[in-house]
Amino acid sequence: MKVKNSLRLLAAVTSLAMLVSCGESRPEYAYDAETPSLYEAYSDYFHIGAAINSWDLTDQTSDRFNLLVKHYDTFVMENETKPDQIHPTEDTYNFGPTDAFVEFGEANGKILRGHTLVWHSQCPQWFFEDNGQEASADLLVQRMKDHITTIVSRYKGRIDTWDVCNEVLDGGGMRFSDWIKIVGDYDGDGDKYDFIEIAFETAREADPDARLIINDYSLESDSNKAIKMYSMVKSMLEEGVPVDGVGLQMHVGIDMDVEAARENIKILARLKEINPDFVIEVTELDMSCYSWNDSSTEINFSKIEDDFNAKYVELFEMFIDLAEEGLLDSVVFWGFNDGDTWLNGYPVEGRTNYPFLMDAEYRLKSAFWEVVELPGKKS
Ligand code: XIL
Repeated sequence: MKVKNSLRLLAAVTSLAMLVSCGESRPEYAYDAETPSLYEAYSDYFHIGAAINSWDLTDQTSDRFNLLVKHYDTFVMENETKPDQIHPTEDTYNFGPTDAFVEFGEANGKILRGHTLVWHSQCPQWFFEDNGQEASADLLVQRMKDHITTIVSRYKGRIDTWDVCNEVLDGGGMRFSDWIKIVGDYDGDGDKYDFIEIAFETAREADPDARLIINDYSLESDSNKAIKMYSMVKSMLEEGVPVDGVGLQMHVGIDMDVEAARENIKILARLKEINPDFVIEVTELDMSCYSWNDSSTEINFSKIEDDFNAKYVELFEMFIDLAEEGLLDSVVFWGFNDGDTWLNGYPVEGRTNYPFLMDAEYRLKSAFWEVVELPGKKS
């Protein structure tokens, strides 16, 4: 497999080198046949994915569709598998979009992630209510189990990885969400994260072969949060709770500290001491072009392009190092082109952002070339 991948990589690098040495210009668009595939370039290191929406899959002859299949081997839905969309009322499931996503993945041999089963956000209020009153712990636990069992069993053996719980921590520790407020210390063992334990156990029962991830933000930048996550997952693993890995969202900024990220990821990687198969995934990568304390809405991308490229290269060099150490096997972008990103308008209203390797017309940015050529320079 490795030999095959290396050969493929060699072929891609050689054809690119020939193209450049013949004085031919590089392809302009992500969907051009001569454009090297991003995921194939990294096939010796980790999978590369993108978050998509069901409307990306409707026209399977479009450039947009073709570039998705070409550049990514892993996919996740940006919103349509979240509780509010897939399970809007207690008796209604809306499986259509996720069914289409799964059919697409199977038809194209892709790895699929399910995002997300339990979250405080984009979760309908009915979970937490009972005839106008707050639901009891028993009722909420039963609803959560039904939700997880129904969804995970439907896609058993088809969705490979689940973000079972999303954002259970905040800056200071456990997030005081309705989940923790209502379920609390359900088994009386002194810790308050029983809803997480039950969620993972239920998901494991529904699909014993699926990879089960606990997903969160700022783990790479906030060492206190990384340590909290480490301690919580460590005690869950010691109690036999089936957590297979931690997902780092990695909504990073152009001013991120990559070396600090490396150190924080290493904290989480120590969970491998308890379970050697424990994995770290990057689940929602995008790079804002604005510094964290900038509140402006427009930026001249060409002015920051060099810094943007350099930071992407530094980041992917770190990912390669982590992959070589056996600590990382998947990097998923939260979108794929600058025209469709939740960062347009967030966290500053009216803002335009340029977080990806291709622009809104799928034109390849210079960062694409730097990132896609990196593995070739390494080997
Ligand atoms: C975001 C989507 O991208 C937006 O379209 C939606 O309006 C809000 O949610 N962390 C997560 C993702 O885990 O689910 C969020 O996705 C981005 C932050």
